[in-house]
Amino acid sequence: MAKSYNTDFADALKLLYREVQSRRQWASNTWTDTGAEQEVKMLEYACGPGTVSLALAPFVSKVVGLDVSEGMVNEYNKNAREAGFAEKMAGHKGDLLADTVSAEISGPEFSDFDIVCVSMALHHFEDPELALKRVAERLKKGGVSLIVDLVPDHNHEHHSHELKKDFPAVETIKTHGFTAEDMRKLYESAGLGLNFDYQVFEEPFVFHKNGKTHSKTIFIARAERQ
Ligand SMILES: C[S@@+](CC[C@H](N)C(=O)[O-])C[C@H]1O[C@@H](n2cnc3c(N)ncnc32)[C@H](O)[C@@H]1O
Repeated sequence: MAKSYNTDFADALKLLYREVQSRRQWASNTWTDTGAEQEVKMLEYACGPGTVSLALAPFVSKVVGLDVSEGMVNEYNKNAREAGFAEKMAGHKGDLLADTVSAEISGPEFSDFDIVCVSMALHHFEDPELALKRVAERLKKGGVSLIVDLVPDHNHEHHSHELKKDFPAVETIKTHGFTAEDMRKLYESAGLGLNFDYQVFEEPFVFHKNGKTHSKTIFIARAERQ
């Protein structure tokens, strides 16, 4: 989906960018403009084209994108260059959920983050609990985990059937959304039990394909590493 992702989800990605950027003070109190000479390192896992990275790049010293898809990593790096962030924003191919995580993404460049975000990807992972644990390992103590994902949709079977016709990647959806309680439990079992919060975006995530309009309700959650 890498080539058409930004076009298919253009309005939804604008919404994501605005909603994340407007909540940055809620998300974390550590940004480059909130303290003297503060270094702030962020990781966006399953970054895709990097909308969340682009929204927060002005307020961090470094942002690393990781994705299993080389096509997505190329889009991420193209978007970083076009937005003028190439010096501090770089995408890499990598899978933190593999049985053995490759040495290439295990060095200091890929650890001790202040913020780790996973946006619109937790529902694709076989084991969201493992994913949050692997994300937690990359955070500094007191660092913030941000998750953006789907609020459970009671009509998801009908919607999934409709969506599958236009987006084959829907086949890879494993969980049809996470409630606040689901997120609290996932965070706690990953050692991310501090200062949990969960907010639902007021506007729906709307996207269009082949003349059809789809709409999803999205949440953003935060918690800190103990
Ligand atoms: C729906 S896209 C979300 C992209 C972006 N984060 C956003 O909010 O627009 C899901 C992304 O998860 C990536 N992905 C799926 N499984 C992954 C894994 N095990 N490790 C890293 N990335 C993965 C896909 O390649 C894809 O880029």
